[in-house]
Amino acid sequence: MLFNDKVILVTGAGSGIGRAAAMHFAKESGWVFGADRNETGLDETAGMMSASGYRFDRLKVDVSDEAAVAELVRTIYDKAGRLDAAFNNAGIAGGNHWLEDYPSDLFAQVISINLFSIFLCMKYQIPLIRRNGGAICNTASVAALTGPGGLSAYAASKCGVHGLTRVAAMENASKGVRVNALAPGLTDTPMVAATRVENVAFDNMARTAVPMKRAAQPDEAAAAAVWLCSPAASYVTGQMIIVDGGLTI
Ligand code: NAI
Repeated sequence: MLFNDKVILVTGAGSGIGRAAAMHFAKESGWVFGADRNETGLDETAGMMSASGYRFDRLKVDVSDEAAVAELVRTIYDKAGRLDAAFNNAGIAGGNHWLEDYPSDLFAQVISINLFSIFLCMKYQIPLIRRNGGAICNTASVAALTGPGGLSAYAASKCGVHGLTRVAAMENASKGVRVNALAPGLTDTPMVAATRVENVAFDNMARTAVPMKRAAQPDEAAAAAVWLCSPAASYVTGQMIIVDGGLTI
């Protein structure tokens, strides 16, 4: 088992890729702490965990709130005495608006939830993970590499995640903490369903845009994050791993 006796924090664990990763970490014998601001989603994840006999603690947290993130990491330390890995994955799409029409407060909110939260999470996680060594994976997106019209805040936030990941990897390479990013392509989760372009069916969009002619299932994206956090990726740091069915070829 890849995560025997290991403690793992997953943010955005109440839905989509985060939930799939939480299940995957737990299947590999990890003790998973799942954080999300959506309590109903967390409850659903907890139900799935308990049905499979997995160890899971749920924590309602807004990851863009510094005091809440500090408290989250403190709670894990108080309860488990360690933190071995973190999958910083919570995020929002922020709607589809051309730049000149993008509401400024929404732009700031997307940066806060998708980028500032990753800074906050790593700020409080790294000192704890350094004690025993471990790894972090931050969720970026192929939007960090392409220029998706209408998604300026989202693309900017995910470029920022890529940069933060590399800096954190450099600062911690000799300190026992590997830091990488996951860049999913089109993945079939509630986030994508919510931002689906009107009158364009999801399957059609995937068939047209993705060389593999389908979207990823959440577990296919999550598997790469789990691998990056595991000892199997022991010499990988500062990388952004793209899981996109060929979208960026
Ligand atoms: P999702 O909407 O299914 O899950 C995101 C989770 O994050 C939700 O449970 C939500 O409540 C939580 N969350 C949002 N803001 C939060 C906050 N401030 N504090 C705590 N929790 C918060 O979406 P999905 O697709 O699973 O997204 C996960 C990550 O993957 C995101 O960072 C997203 O940007 C990224 N991603 C998703 C892609 C896709 O096609 N679905 C493509 C590329 C990247």
